[in-house]
Amino acid sequence: MRYSLVLAALLATTATASADDWAPPVTDKLVQKECGSCHMAFQPAFLPKRSWVKIMDTLSDHFGDDASLPADQTAAIRAYLADNAGDLKRRGIAAKYMRWVATDGIPLKITENPAFLREHNFPDRVWKDPKVVTKSNCLACHVGANRGDYEDD
Ligand code: HEC
Ligand code: HEC
Repeated sequence: MRYSLVLAALLATTATASADDWAPPVTDKLVQKECGSCHMAFQPAFLPKRSWVKIMDTLSDHFGDDASLPADQTAAIRAYLADNAGDLKRRGIAAKYMRWVATDGIPLKITENPAFLREHNFPDRVWKDPKVVTKSNCLACHVGANRGDYEDD
């Protein structure tokens, strides 16, 4: 009895940790290339489908940059991100982040989600570090971020 309880607790901890530490990585070459040139190609599980659609429909004014692409590429990337969006998944990181998104909310930033802010409640000097500069620079702290691995920091 004692052993099974300990084992159950251990398994529960492992399952939770791995689910929260990992987002299915971007496997589409076009998305990796076109959405991974200025920053890493963020995993679609972090935002709901309607957010990706909006981002893809407003690329000419993308956080102050013009990130527009030919229409066929825009459509292909939009379809990939929408098909893998967080609100279509019920587990792991997607579930954790979607919990904070209102049913009609269209957040454009992963880094403004309360789930993100709670895990990244660091002093200002961390964000001002020249190696970090911005919250969206996931790779500065998570070496495996491109693989969807957020276990390391
Ligand atoms: C020309 C450069 C450029 C390209 C190409 C680009 N982005 Fe961005 N993106 C930016 C900038 C600049 C920001 C704002 C970063 C910040 O505030 O730290 C940003 C931010 C984002 C964010 C919000 C990050 C956060 O803070 O949560 C998402 C999501 C995003 N981009 C998705 C995409 C997608 C999808 C593509 C491919 C279609 C793409 N980006 C291509 C420049 C680019
Ligand atoms: C300044 C460094 C830094 C930056 C930049 C950063 N993170 Fe983190 N992140 C951390 C630290 C530290 C933790 C806590 C690690 C832990 O608890 O094991 C963390 C935790 C996480 C977790 C939770 C992992 C868990 O154990 O539950 C996720 C998911 C995550 N970050 C995603 C991101 C994403 C996505 C980005 C970019 C949009 C990002 N982080 C940017 C430092 C950073």
